[in-house]
Amino acid sequence: VGAPYAEYVKSEDKQFIKDTLAEIRNPFELAIYGSENCWNFGAILRVGHNFMTTGYYSIDIPWYYKKAAMTARPWERERIVNCNIEEFLEKTKGRNIVAFERRSTLETEDIRTFKYPENPILLFGSEKFGVPDALLERADYVVSIPVMGLVYDHNVAVCAGIASYDWLSKHKA
Ligand SMILES: C[S@@+](CC[C@H](N)C(=O)[O-])C[C@H]1O[C@@H](n2cnc3c(N)ncnc32)[C@H](O)[C@@H]1O
Repeated sequence: VGAPYAEYVKSEDKQFIKDTLAEIRNPFELAIYGSENCWNFGAILRVGHNFMTTGYYSIDIPWYYKKAAMTARPWERERIVNCNIEEFLEKTKGRNIVAFERRSTLETEDIRTFKYPENPILLFGSEKFGVPDALLERADYVVSIPVMGLVYDHNVAVCAGIASYDWLSKHKA
């Protein structure tokens, strides 16, 4: 699965490239919360680009490390919605939200058997605080990714990669 990317990047017409990529974008979006994710958000743009997500919600992230997005950035940056928690809740009314989180106090579904709802927004928390309660309460599902080592959780950009790949493998085998 993928774009014949080499052909597209030869084109001088940037709008042509954007329009062509739009045709193969997948119906899921990535939402990332937290001001501690300034470094991770760039890496998540690269993940989202390579799995051809439709777009991004950057929730309370004042800036991000652009180099981590590599050459994905020009094709993704117009698809980022910058917002705070209240704005995110308002903009996503009626949408299916799948939060990714792992905490001993939280009941979650295992990603390996999870079936995604239509056009989901895959939501991730900050490195320090995780997904805040206001967003967890709004989420339609809370999904966890297995951890086998001694570190309790994964890096958030890694989680975005695993979740995007999981969505893809369950929809475009
Ligand atoms: C490093 S974790 C932050 C954890 C935070 N310290 C807490 O206790 O909630 C950053 C984010 O990555 C995602 N994450 C990390 N490990 C995960 C796992 N095993 N399953 C699902 N999501 C995970 C979650 O979205 C989480 O909010």
